[in-house]
Amino acid sequence: MEHSNSNPAATDTRGRVDALLGIVFGDEGKGKVVDVFAPRYDVVARFAGGPNAGHTIIFDGKKFVLRSIPSGIFSEHQLNIIGNGCVIAPDLFMAEARELEAAGYDLRPRLHISTRAHLILPTHRVLDRALEAAKGKNAVGTTGKGIGPTYSEKAARTGLRVGDILEGFEAKYAALKARHEQQLRDLHYTDYDITAEERTWMEGVAYMRQFTITDTVTELGELLAQGKSVLAEGAQGTMLDIDHGTYPYVSSSSTTTGGVCTGLGVAPQAIGDVYGIFKAYSTRVGAGPFPVELFDETGEQLCQIGHEYGAVTGRRRRCGWVDLVALRYAIMVNGVTKLIMMKSDVLDTFSTIRVCVAYERNGQRTTTMPFDTEGWAAVYHDLPGWQTDLTHITTADEFPPAFDAYIRYLEQELHTPITLVSVGPDREQVVMRT
Ligand code: IMP
Repeated sequence: MEHSNSNPAATDTRGRVDALLGIVFGDEGKGKVVDVFAPRYDVVARFAGGPNAGHTIIFDGKKFVLRSIPSGIFSEHQLNIIGNGCVIAPDLFMAEARELEAAGYDLRPRLHISTRAHLILPTHRVLDRALEAAKGKNAVGTTGKGIGPTYSEKAARTGLRVGDILEGFEAKYAALKARHEQQLRDLHYTDYDITAEERTWMEGVAYMRQFTITDTVTELGELLAQGKSVLAEGAQGTMLDIDHGTYPYVSSSSTTTGGVCTGLGVAPQAIGDVYGIFKAYSTRVGAGPFPVELFDETGEQLCQIGHEYGAVTGRRRRCGWVDLVALRYAIMVNGVTKLIMMKSDVLDTFSTIRVCVAYERNGQRTTTMPFDTEGWAAVYHDLPGWQTDLTHITTADEFPPAFDAYIRYLEQELHTPITLVSVGPDREQVVMRT
């Protein structure tokens, strides 16, 4: 495939793993960036999460939503890996893979799945619903894909892994399903029927057996030793990380750079650049604290102009101004070396652009991420809007002064360069800054 963009990963990537991570609440537009970045690497690997992710990629004029499959699948020369830190639902994997195969992409030689990735069973999805219902008003607002129950099972050391489908699977499956059914009875959640879903799921298991299911940890180690370059493709975002996010309103995996090491089995010394992706404003889908959330006309405008509806669930995203408290924390935790700002053009029409510089609660002010993010209000610094259409701009020296000032202000506050700026939905609408 031809990619006309100049190389955003211009430094030498041989023998190392660069990470491309959403650093706020996910939905930063990783799909588009990875599409620009991925062709520069020999391997693209997913290290965390599962079908709760939804990377929308437009390729050859067609739109694809990738959930479990890495975005390198569109480039013929690349190997794609679903790493041990991921969870995978065979039925959804089959649907996703078949759609790509129908569009002419030959996946099987280029997609390897870790034997150690955990399986999402149909009953994990029922448990996800049952546990959410039991939480009542404290529900997390999960994607309903069984992510939490599957990672809980992993930590409880009772889960099934992809390698298990290769031998004696039926008995292992039946035993785990029986335990889930007991748990569901204990929760008084019995009004469900997974008969049809289970049939497709088993079909998915048979389909997955046709792929290379392997020790991707050793494979990656050997590839890195040969000098191959790897792009670790993140899912969700830092503020949804099980340790570093707004717990308990988080996902269940390690979405940060640390998760790259555990989720792929690579050493910290192998990590090269860490690209942190954020939007020029903030969004969050699902429940949980969100100090910058706007409930007014401005919030509605951000949602409408930015088309802020979830790729997986279609849910409306909550919107607000950019949040320096969250960004600073995410840059520190991930070791972000380069920032990428997405969807800048969504702010084109606003006369004032606000930036959250601190949180305030009961007269107390903080600029670092508090333990309990509930009940904090955003403190803002205002900048003039550029009120210019950015979407046709191709070089940084064409930026209107007010937009340039916005970028420089963020860089100064975050002590990290913003190297790539997106000014529209198309793959071509990205502007390099360094
Ligand atoms: P789960 O990952 O389905 O358990 O959902 C936990 C929380 O993470 C919910 O608030 C979801 O809305 C959120 N979440 C999970 N995956 C994504 C994603 O890819 N983008 C944005 N939010 C997500």
